[in-house]
Amino acid sequence: MDPQYRRYGRWLKRAAWILAIYLFAAWLFMGLSPSQSISDPELVISQLRPFMLQAMILVFFIIIQFGAMFWFLSRGNDYVIYPNEYDTSFDDVRGQPAAVESTQEVLRVFEGFKDFKQMGGYPPHGILFEGPPGTGKTLMAKAIAGASGVPFLFATGSGFAAMFVGIGNLKVRRLFKKARVMSDKYGGSVIFIDEIDAVGSRGGVTTDRSGDRSTHRIIMGGMGMGGGMGVINELLVQMDGFTVPRGLWRHIRRIAFRAKPKVPFYNILVIGATNRAATLDAALVRPGRFDRKIHVGLPDAEGRQDILEYYLAKVRHEPIDYPKLSRMTVGYSPASLKNIVNEALLFALQDGRDALRWDDLWQAKLSEEIGLKQPVKYSPREKAMVAVHEGAHAVASYALEREELQIQVITIQKRESALGSSRPRRSRRCSFGPRSSSWLASRCPSRVWSRRRSGTARPRRVPRPTS
Ligand SMILES: Nc1ncnc2c1ncn2[C@@H]1O[C@H](COP(=O)(O)OP(=O)(O)OP(=O)(O)O)[C@@H](O)[C@H]1O
Ligand SMILES: [Mg+2]
Repeated sequence: MDPQYRRYGRWLKRAAWILAIYLFAAWLFMGLSPSQSISDPELVISQLRPFMLQAMILVFFIIIQFGAMFWFLSRGNDYVIYPNEYDTSFDDVRGQPAAVESTQEVLRVFEGFKDFKQMGGYPPHGILFEGPPGTGKTLMAKAIAGASGVPFLFATGSGFAAMFVGIGNLKVRRLFKKARVMSDKYGGSVIFIDEIDAVGSRGGVTTDRSGDRSTHRIIMGGMGMGGGMGVINELLVQMDGFTVPRGLWRHIRRIAFRAKPKVPFYNILVIGATNRAATLDAALVRPGRFDRKIHVGLPDAEGRQDILEYYLAKVRHEPIDYPKLSRMTVGYSPASLKNIVNEALLFALQDGRDALRWDDLWQAKLSEEIGLKQPVKYSPREKAMVAVHEGAHAVASYALEREELQIQVITIQKRESALGSSRPRRSRRCSFGPRSSSWLASRCPSRVWSRRRSGTARPRRVPRPTS
């Protein structure tokens, strides 16, 4: 059969249903036979009008109630940032040149998607920022919001959590619908989902808590025991599935004018950020969904210097030896570097100065690593013992000639959990020597201390200095 007639057949079926309902209602409420109701439709309709009106009002209110309830529940906590509303730019993302370069590259293709499509390519669908906490993933998204020139929809993974099954899906669907409307209007839109692991991990989130020797593994269903499964599937479908545009006009054109409206192309870039990329669903990170995985890692020495210069330029300060400060902060994330500058400024203000200096940065570093100073009074004997312990650390690292264990600070000032402290320069990534020598440097002093204290080889239950 011609497919066109099949389409009309569908409408005929609907008309037959309406006729059947009409005949049934006439028989039920007025006791008329089918031939009577067909011969005098005017009478039937005038008699049935009040019933029909009441029924319609009832149905209308039920639909309104349900509609309002689902509308209210499926309201996501996402919000839209329109072009030129955010003034963060890629110049504010410091010390991460590789990540910034890759992101800008994707944005260029995204903005010029028409040319790229004409050349036969398909523009990137998504970028996944992954890396340790505080390295600038969210900041990078803010820079995209400031630079992209199209609406930016911000959402969080946990925002899709819902009390009722299915509401999370509605939230995802609504977010993408909003993005499609924006894409139609502005020629593109960006969706950013922060902490996407809250929604995008299939088979459960695994957390390691390795505070002590035994590792606890907590395995939870994605988004609370399986409730999130549907949400991931919705995300998968919305990112790379069938998207059929709805709308009455499209149906009218198709039926009345036998037109074949094309499914429009939506230029939507989806960005996800996570610090647990390993837990994400494999289908989510396949090409066609998150095409680009950009690692935003801890900055290197040059990067740290750049970040420190950036944040120190915002505060009043005396001349600072930046390369030295950068060497002193190995393993620091940009967020910790920002925090150090802020802490240093607080120390300067507490000291009654309006400009920070090297000492303040040093104090800030110490309080970041080993906590704030604790006001305790040592007896002369305790003082000597702590000094011997910390001194032994220094002697051990000097004797072992381990570059990465060269002592940077040695103190008997009590701070949070330590009676005194000796801090080696942190350079964990380039230690080539045997582990035993660093073990010696860190453990021997405890033995020296405990021997001096009690004449035995094993320390007893007395708080002792930590390294
Ligand atoms: N590359 C950077 N340059 C300048 N500032 C940075 C950089 N990276 C992070 N920051 C600052 O550190 C703070 C934390 O950054 P951000 O929120 O982007 O981290 P994140 O990677 O998203 O962390 P999380 O994974 O915990 O969400 C922000 O205040 C930001 O200004
Ligand atoms: Mg973040």
